[in-house]
Amino acid sequence: MTTPRFAIAILAAGKGTRLKSKLPKVLHQIAGLPLLSHVVRAASQIVPVEDIYCIIGHEAERVRQEIAPLGVQFVEQTEQRGTGHAIMQCRQALAAYDHVLVLSGDVPLIRPETIASVRDFHIARKSAMTILTARPPDPFGYGRIVRRAEHNTETDHVAAIVEQKQLTPAQETIGEINSGIYTFLVKELFARIDRLSTDNPHGEYYLTEIAAILGQEGLPVLALPTAHASEVLGVNTRRELAQLDAILRERKTRELMDNGVTIFKPETVMIDADVQIGADTVIEPFVQLLGNTALGEDCLVRSFSVLTNLKSGNGVKFHQGTIAEDSTVGDAAVIGPYARLRMGSQIGPEAHVGNFVETKKTRLGRGAKANHLTYLGDAEIGERTNIGAGTITCNYDGVNKSTTKIGAGAFIGSDTTLVAPVSIGDGAYIGAASCITKDVPADSLGLTRPEQVVKEGWATAKRVRLEAAKKAASQKK
Ligand code: UD1
Ligand code: MG
Repeated sequence: MTTPRFAIAILAAGKGTRLKSKLPKVLHQIAGLPLLSHVVRAASQIVPVEDIYCIIGHEAERVRQEIAPLGVQFVEQTEQRGTGHAIMQCRQALAAYDHVLVLSGDVPLIRPETIASVRDFHIARKSAMTILTARPPDPFGYGRIVRRAEHNTETDHVAAIVEQKQLTPAQETIGEINSGIYTFLVKELFARIDRLSTDNPHGEYYLTEIAAILGQEGLPVLALPTAHASEVLGVNTRRELAQLDAILRERKTRELMDNGVTIFKPETVMIDADVQIGADTVIEPFVQLLGNTALGEDCLVRSFSVLTNLKSGNGVKFHQGTIAEDSTVGDAAVIGPYARLRMGSQIGPEAHVGNFVETKKTRLGRGAKANHLTYLGDAEIGERTNIGAGTITCNYDGVNKSTTKIGAGAFIGSDTTLVAPVSIGDGAYIGAASCITKDVPADSLGLTRPEQVVKEGWATAKRVRLEAAKKAASQKK
């Protein structure tokens, strides 16, 4: 027996009217990823990505751009005339397959295990159409499953799927809903799909109508109930978007805690789906870890820190209010409180970046320190160098960005401005409050401030003058 050829088609052409958004529905994000990406990821655990077909239509180019890097195929539905019409557009693309699993771009919590269970059931039962069904606490809005015969032994046969607006009063009590996830025999599906009507409140071709059409011809149309109703929740409104985002983030924090990460008040932290965290790292309340952030072991992320695409080694401390993105931090470094690492910052092991320090495209060597009130942009700073409070790299002349190079073991005095391009050699000293415009060689002193003047008794004399003037003024009145 040859192995059956499976494709996955993902319905993703709709506008998502109920979201009231400029952004197409399937690009709205939960846990930091578009809804459609979640579905594609689950699908790609079941079939190779080249067998995944995303049906796109509303804002198709935007969706294609965002999703194409995942390697899937696209089918265009230029006019959105319903879920059945969307599948009609796939006739050619699916001709080479035996079975198609249909997923919804707006049902993002579906797990690969569940998709596999639909596939396996479908094959084992030689079904023509298998429908994944569920019993959510509130079935309102979903298509309901009308079983063929309550008293028949084959109770998993489905007579019809009835959409919310077409339910008879008796059908309104049905708790079993259509998840929008199905498997079809490709040949039987396309032999009959042209028989779908638009005779419904929206005047659309409903894919759900195919259940009755196949069933009436005696083909097996079966329901497979899932025990995990939350997996098939759909996103049609902003409230549902927030609800599903919360479910995914809770799943994520639970998984991290199970792997040895401490998270205090996990309900207050926002951790995106792809974030990785090593064991024994501690996450305090109100932390956000976003994008592809990956933290090592034994780190501490204190409250109100927001780390985006940040890679860190082990034992790093991010004190309160650290804001960091697209940067790397080495082992045992200390960042914050209130530090800002902007794109391309590479903070070396054991380095310190303290309060109100901003870095951008800057490399800070092992054990180097910039502890207070400093801007380091386009800079390379050697090991163990100390950057005094209030140091500024003047990296931008209004047109070009230039680099500041500081060697190892150097000492930059407080309130120094370094006008780039400029280099400071290893072990050099810069006197406080200097404005450095020329290179300073290794082990020398660079200093630009004027000599200090001291006038003894000057202040006493001034006060005497001021008092006398004040007295004279009051006598005149
Ligand atoms: C659909 C089902 C309903 C099921 C529910 C599960 C139909 C008629 N109804 O309803 O039985 O309980 O899903 O979530 O299928 N889409 C297209 N092209 C179109 C229209 C829609 O690609 O022309 C896509 C949408 O982008 C979406 C998916 O199909 O990803 C489902 O469409 P939606 O309008 O959300 O259908 P529901 O009302 O949720
Ligand atoms: Mg929907």
